[in-house]
Amino acid sequence: MPLLGVNIDHVATLRQARYRSKDGGGDGSHGEPDPARAVGEAELGGADIITIHLREDRRHIQDRDARLIRELARVRVNLEMAATVEMVRLARELKPHMVTLVPEGRQEVTTEGGLDVRGQMARLKDMVSRLKAGAAAEGGMTVSAFIDPDAAQVQAAKEAGFTACELHTGPFAEAFAAAGGDAALGGLGASIQTLADAAHRVRAVGMRLHAGHALNYANVRHVAGLPGMSELHIGHAIVARAVFVGLREAVREMKVLCGA
Ligand code: PXP
Repeated sequence: MPLLGVNIDHVATLRQARYRSKDGGGDGSHGEPDPARAVGEAELGGADIITIHLREDRRHIQDRDARLIRELARVRVNLEMAATVEMVRLARELKPHMVTLVPEGRQEVTTEGGLDVRGQMARLKDMVSRLKAGAAAEGGMTVSAFIDPDAAQVQAAKEAGFTACELHTGPFAEAFAAAGGDAALGGLGASIQTLADAAHRVRAVGMRLHAGHALNYANVRHVAGLPGMSELHIGHAIVARAVFVGLREAVREMKVLCGA
């Protein structure tokens, strides 16, 4: 059964919708809901990992949130971030258990494509080794690459020194929605196969296998059931469900589905 990383960014999105200052700043210490308070609820629901994305534009999680969450969490913390010098410096200060490098576009609503590891090999190799060198835990920091399910990108991630690959499940989720979940319809079967092939490559080169993006209560079982799946990182669907049933229960329900 894969571990569940609960992405609590959207708790901060809700706070920022009301409390963002006119210049877009503010450290997030005034106003609710406080993402730091989401940590305990997510843990009680069974979260194995708390995931946060500290974006360069600070549109949801603020630096203050990241520091508090790192301090409060009793489970592992996964910091998603852009592959920039500023973010690597912050990660070395924060010392999360895991960093996931993602591409970041300022205009995008959420992370869109996977990281092009092949196209930025030298730069990413350097960043991965600096992140690993700054790890808090004795076992070192897990450094994960959020990539499209593509064999060449998996190989490049291995060469760059990443310890894990998080396969981008966005296209799969779109195919699932278009086919109404029927694997015999449209491109859903092919999309599942693409994920399965990439998952196999990740395991074959000896890396940890993660997946995430646009997973929800309807589609998650196809991804959770891929052989060797270690971690799923899920945010929007869980926080959206929490509006109706509370975060603890929303996480608990997703945990059950991850094991199904
Ligand atoms: N994994 C990565 C790398 C992401 O960037 C995101 C979105 O922040 C997620 C997982 C979670 O995606 P969603 O909110 O669609 O579940």
